[in-house]
Amino acid sequence: MSNKVPKHQPSLRSTYAQRAEAAAHEAAAGERRRRRIAVVVVAVLALVGVAATTALLLGRGDDEAVAHSEASVRLGCSSCHTTDGRRSEGPTWQGLAGSTVSLADGTTVVADDAYLRRAITDPQAEIVAGFAPGMPQQEISDEDLDALVAFIRSLA
Ligand code: HEC
Repeated sequence: MSNKVPKHQPSLRSTYAQRAEAAAHEAAAGERRRRRIAVVVVAVLALVGVAATTALLLGRGDDEAVAHSEASVRLGCSSCHTTDGRRSEGPTWQGLAGSTVSLADGTTVVADDAYLRRAITDPQAEIVAGFAPGMPQQEISDEDLDALVAFIRSLA
């Protein structure tokens, strides 16, 4: 027993040394792993940030395109008509196509293409109930008229 102690001591010491080395190694590896994870997290956050910003910018562009057609903006219609259901100077175009419109003279009319064309080219012919006859009469090309009717139909 007594002669075993000196034999064991060096090996014990080396075991401790190995353990300490292994622990230091493990700690260094853990540190490297944490750093790698931090880099990945920062990279993912940066990507998400870029994607969100892009989506926001693209989304805003889409909203503007949906809000009014090019012809409607160019001809000034968008200053009096909304596409989201809100009343403006004129009635909203949301849900207009195909609906039954009450007119100021007490009659009703279905907003088919013929009505929409009339409402655009001859605004005084039929006045929508609850609105003043304030829509200006203006020269509109056939191309613009088609585009406007198609646009209003797309909001049905
Ligand atoms: C100065 C404001 C104004 C402008 C600009 C204007 N409108 Fe109007 N619009 C009105 C008003 C007010 C009415 C409702 C009275 C009426 O029937 O005339 C109306 C009615 C309409 C209607 C019938 C709506 C319904 O609910 O039946 C359509 C369709 C329409 N406008 C399309 C257009 C188009 C297309 C343009 C652009 C070329 C345009 N408007 C420009 C004010 C305007």
